[in-house]
Amino acid sequence: MTEASIAPKPVAAASGATLHDRILVGFKPIDDLHKEFEEIVGVLNDPAEADFGEHLLALHEHMLRHAATEEGFMAQEGYAHLGRHRRAHEHLLEAIARVRDRWDCGDVESVQRFAAELMSWFAIHASSEDAELAAFLKGEAKAA
Ligand SMILES: [Fe+2]
Ligand SMILES: [Fe+2]
Repeated sequence: MTEASIAPKPVAAASGATLHDRILVGFKPIDDLHKEFEEIVGVLNDPAEADFGEHLLALHEHMLRHAATEEGFMAQEGYAHLGRHRRAHEHLLEAIARVRDRWDCGDVESVQRFAAELMSWFAIHASSEDAELAAFLKGEAKAA
């Protein structure tokens, strides 16, 4: 399995916007989850931290709750793009499960690469799928 199969390649943040700015969507329940996600990814990228197993488990548990919360809003409000958005969540959850397997096999380097790329991937998801959902939930846009 290649590195690319774990997580998509990172992209540079849009000019002027930090990754932190890009993950906030203006809908508090989702923004609270995004700040929590950012915190876990920060710990995973802290060179002083060694227990990746514990932090990957925290990431996995967080992401299950994160996805269930957003998908609950979508189902409750009849959001038209639930299927597409859920597939993106499933893709990330599968990537997390794979990288936990790598950790269990002693492949620390793969875990470090995954952790280093994760926030850039998440910023793309947050600024597209989650931002669109937040706008819908706030009544600013109608899902086509
Ligand atoms: Fe999200
Ligand atoms: Fe999402």
